[in-house]
Amino acid sequence: MVALGVGAEGQTAHNLLARPELVINLPAPAQWPAVERLAPLTGRTPVPVYKRGGFRFERDKFAAAGLRPEPSALVRPPRVAECPLQLEARAAMVRPDVSGGFLIVEAHVLRVHAGPRIVVAGSQHADPAVWSPFIYNFRHHFGLGPELGHSFRSQTPR
Ligand SMILES: Cc1cc2nc3c(=O)[nH]c(=O)nc-3n(C[C@H](O)[C@H](O)[C@H](O)COP(=O)(O)O)c2cc1C
Repeated sequence: MVALGVGAEGQTAHNLLARPELVINLPAPAQWPAVERLAPLTGRTPVPVYKRGGFRFERDKFAAAGLRPEPSALVRPPRVAECPLQLEARAAMVRPDVSGGFLIVEAHVLRVHAGPRIVVAGSQHADPAVWSPFIYNFRHHFGLGPELGHSFRSQTPR
């Protein structure tokens, strides 16, 4: 399960209320410029009031970000081909948060696509020494620092 907090006025919230399928695409830190190209865009028109002055409507966010759509196996929305980790999912629960400003989405992951480079050879595990998620750190873009250690539950200790 993946839990998301999605602005209630945006197109993503609108889409998820209309149909439950989604893909959660996890970029690598080096892809931060593409993330930032997406940041000021909304698929909602007219642009929601709270997004006015900074956001603009864009129908084709893939082209605007310089990313390629790739068909999904189990859901209708396409994946982002360039993202090393992609989760095809179905929203099992979509409900307003306590402030009313967000939707809380609980999504059931149906299929995980992990690029061969980030998988421990011969296993179904992502290699945490290779895979580094993009981290949005108080509106600044980061990756992970060096590994400090691992949990007793790791199935890929070195
Ligand atoms: C790195 C990053 C992370 C973001 N995370 C969220 C998030 O968790 N929830 C959210 O509602 N918006 C988030 N946003 C803002 C959305 O990208 C932005 O509201 C966008 O306009 C939504 O587009 P839409 O209206 O087409 O759904 C994030 C933006 C950036 C750049």
